[in-house]
Amino acid sequence: MYKKFYKLREYPFNITSDPSFFFSSARHMDAFSHLIYGIEQRKGIIVITGEIGTGKTTLCRALLNRLDKKTKTAFVLNPNFSELQLMQMIIKDLGIVFKEQSKFNLISTLNEFLIKESARGHNVALIIDEAQNLKPTQLEQVRLLSNLETEKQKLLQIILVGQPELMEKLKLPSLRQLNQRIAVRFHMLPLERNETKDYILHRLKVAGANGQLNFTSPALEAIFAHSGGTPRLINVICDRALLAGYAAETFTIDEKIIQQCVEEIL
Ligand SMILES: Nc1ncnc2c1ncn2[C@@H]1O[C@H](COP(=O)(O)OP(=O)(O)OP(=O)(O)O)[C@@H](O)[C@H]1O
Ligand SMILES: [Mg+2]
Repeated sequence: MYKKFYKLREYPFNITSDPSFFFSSARHMDAFSHLIYGIEQRKGIIVITGEIGTGKTTLCRALLNRLDKKTKTAFVLNPNFSELQLMQMIIKDLGIVFKEQSKFNLISTLNEFLIKESARGHNVALIIDEAQNLKPTQLEQVRLLSNLETEKQKLLQIILVGQPELMEKLKLPSLRQLNQRIAVRFHMLPLERNETKDYILHRLKVAGANGQLNFTSPALEAIFAHSGGTPRLINVICDRALLAGYAAETFTIDEKIIQQCVEEIL
């Protein structure tokens, strides 16, 4: 609707985790460095936590996009899996050809793959998103996978990504073995005031906005005040504001529009 009015190529504030809109905030880049360090240094288990909507899934997708061919990856988005299904998902995602096999055989197939890749100087990473929903038995299974190693190094780097409850879960006495093995931890915080403004301008630019469409400074300030810098909330407010701006046939999004939108949606 408003895309045509504002002459945009794409909707700037979709709430999908499209990596082409990735904004390299200091926080996101810091998280990124932790991930790359953990994978390249073969640290075993890496945990990334962050409040709802701070950009964890987006970060994972950006990571998958940016890793070179020397790193093979498997990305598990839905944590509702059985032990067998987890193995099948990993093996399929890594592009390993396999026949229907028992769990035991799948583990040795994976192990052979990891040893071969390691000999070629390649890294292999498994990313599990929404890890706060994993049951303790599933987390224990993840620990067992991290045992795939040579005398010198971990063969599979496992990245657990989830909301802050994940940290609480990892403190359970039954999971202390796993907790002790976490070599890299990073907690994502929302964007700061200035970053929030830059984030909005960045998304508008990627979507093809020309100089005509303008968010006033008080509008940007109000968006930060109401979103607390959480990217998903920023997107929801901005999307609604553009719709309201279009209805009012204006190219200037001011504080009044933001206030109205916030009252309607938050
Ligand atoms: N660095 C970023 N660059 C561009 N957009 C971002 C960034 N971080 C987050 N977003 C946007 O914010 C929204 C929410 O991000 P995302 O889904 O990654 O959050 P999340 O932390 O995974 O949330 P949840 O806890 O609900 O799983 C998405 O629309 C995404 O496009
Ligand atoms: Mg997510």
